[in-house]
Amino acid sequence: MIYNKIKKILYGGDYNPEQWPKEIWKEDMRLLKEAHIDTLTLNVFSWAALQPSEEEYDFSRLDEIMDMVKENGFQVCLATSTGAHPAWMAKKYPDILRRDFNGMKRKFGGRHNSCPNSPTYRKYSLRLAQKLARRYKDYDNIIAWHISNEYGGECYCENCEKAFRVWLKKKYKTLEELNRVWNTAFWGHTFYDWEEIVLPNLLSEHFEENRSQFQGITLDYKRFNSESILECCRLEYEAIKKITPHIPITTNLMGFYKGLDYKMWAKYLDVVSWDNYPANEDSPAMIAMSHDLMRGIKGGQPFLLMEQTPSVTNWLPYNALKRPGVMRLWSYQAVAHGADAVMFFQMRRTVGACEKLHGAVIDHVGTNQTRVYREVQALGAELEKIGQETLGAVTEAKVALYFDWDNWWAAECSAGPSCELKYKEEVLNYYEAFHSLNIPVDIVGPEDDLGSYKVLAAPLLYMTKTGYDEKIRKFTQNGGIFITTFFSGIVDEHDLVILGGYPGRLRDILGIWVEEEDALPSGTENSFVYRGTRYPARLICDLLHSEGAEVLSTYESDFYAGMPAVTVNHFGKGRGYYVAARSGKAFYRKFLGDICEEAGIQPVILPQEGLEAAERKNENGRFLFLLNHGNRELEVKVREGGKDLISGEAYSPGGRIFLEAKGVRILKIEEKI
Ligand code: GLA
Ligand code: ZN
Repeated sequence: MIYNKIKKILYGGDYNPEQWPKEIWKEDMRLLKEAHIDTLTLNVFSWAALQPSEEEYDFSRLDEIMDMVKENGFQVCLATSTGAHPAWMAKKYPDILRRDFNGMKRKFGGRHNSCPNSPTYRKYSLRLAQKLARRYKDYDNIIAWHISNEYGGECYCENCEKAFRVWLKKKYKTLEELNRVWNTAFWGHTFYDWEEIVLPNLLSEHFEENRSQFQGITLDYKRFNSESILECCRLEYEAIKKITPHIPITTNLMGFYKGLDYKMWAKYLDVVSWDNYPANEDSPAMIAMSHDLMRGIKGGQPFLLMEQTPSVTNWLPYNALKRPGVMRLWSYQAVAHGADAVMFFQMRRTVGACEKLHGAVIDHVGTNQTRVYREVQALGAELEKIGQETLGAVTEAKVALYFDWDNWWAAECSAGPSCELKYKEEVLNYYEAFHSLNIPVDIVGPEDDLGSYKVLAAPLLYMTKTGYDEKIRKFTQNGGIFITTFFSGIVDEHDLVILGGYPGRLRDILGIWVEEEDALPSGTENSFVYRGTRYPARLICDLLHSEGAEVLSTYESDFYAGMPAVTVNHFGKGRGYYVAARSGKAFYRKFLGDICEEAGIQPVILPQEGLEAAERKNENGRFLFLLNHGNRELEVKVREGGKDLISGEAYSPGGRIFLEAKGVRILKIEEKI
């Protein structure tokens, strides 16, 4: 295990004593210990304090904090503070400031505000990381480095523009090739000099944030921006690694954050960590999918839940409280999907500025007499009891769900066919069905090996990268089941259409030809019958012809009534399914349920409304997580016997568990000898 020092699920989170007078630090130590907290993330936003001027560094306060938490037995996740630069630096070196999408040059303010290609930012962030690593290298309670904080955003400044040209030259070598892949013959955009290339924003190729007139340029900018920011992270990573090679390094990611290609980022992190802040409307499946994505970007390796609010956020339009039991339930949900840490933002509620109304373990009242504190404390006691049992455990999935940032960017900045086309939503439709069936899913990217899977679902595979079709072909020929949908196989990695009929290179695998695509205006729908039941066809209806595929369903209305809506093609030892329109929950559940059943893929436990189940496995054994997201008790029948890690209660094979609303069990399955 990469973080071999940890003995139990990490429990704690962001602690910002610098925002409070020293008199209460002692009290914090006591209250946090009493809540069974063992890990504190320190120094997340302290650059201005650590470097008061260009020449001067001052670590005295951090020294004090580091010593205090060590004396009190806490482990530390030490941040580098480079998520927000000091005001003096912005004044002295304006190159550190970003330029917005609309071309506006920023002044000092906010956070996550540095230009990733600013020489000043790179120089001083690296230097700070280095100094921190040298200073604290011998603190054996540091369990991880936390670089910067929630990297993100974009910059359109002159430095970025110059760097973009260098990036393009490296990638395409010649202007001829660049003109080809961007199809600049369109609207007479041919470039004759690299210097003519400008960044794609509101001043150039965009008419709004997500709509570009030249998708190829925009796509390359997004890649470039993600890589530029990653480069900043890597510079700090390399500097720290040289000094403390034994301490794992992470940065806190944000789940389905569109701006950064986390699949690429994960390669350069020792361990993935992420911040889980669901929107009010997010379903348990949506949260589960985010956890699975964070596990998936690093090939299934467990991750750290770096942040979540114990109670409430401050930045949603409506900041609803987490109801009693929900913080606990969602914490275990993270663990069920691969987390080895349950951490919060933050330990004590701050006194001023925009996060003063953000939830914390210790509230403004400053005591342990709050609902939130009590819930945190109770969960802390449970995690202590669970100990090291689940650490490092992995998920064994037979279903792979494809997700790719390039495809996300490209599919959504295309003009047409529908403004309602949202890649994540399409992937979620499929995920939700597997989730409701209690079938574990691994989220995979273009580079991942498919050898261990029986099913590969790739909804809205608009972009088929060169070579990926071959991977799918082999997978299917060897007996795999491939599922894709409308608006797939349209373009290559440059957003250039694959000619010769849709779905391009997937045509032989699916045995179909898509002739046209009809976008259905909001509120309208077609329908089809699948295995005796009628289901809706929405958003986009592909008009397709079978070229050998068996037609399972056909449209029922409009001029294309009778044309195929769902097809299956027998290809090698496997099959290729095509779902030509968006449908509804009932369809996905039935359709994917049938496919899994035919492929012999078992749910971890029989599905029930409101019940989420997941499994993890390590050298200690196999763990079945049962989570009741509903508001009423569930009666769950277990196939195998086991002992609940939380209560110690034992269940025999075929036994019943009465799982209270918001309740959780973690059964360590008794393996038959
Ligand atoms: C993010 C940040 C934290 C804090 C929280 C508040 O996740 O990383 O610093 O601002 O949001 O929800
Ligand atoms: Zn910039």
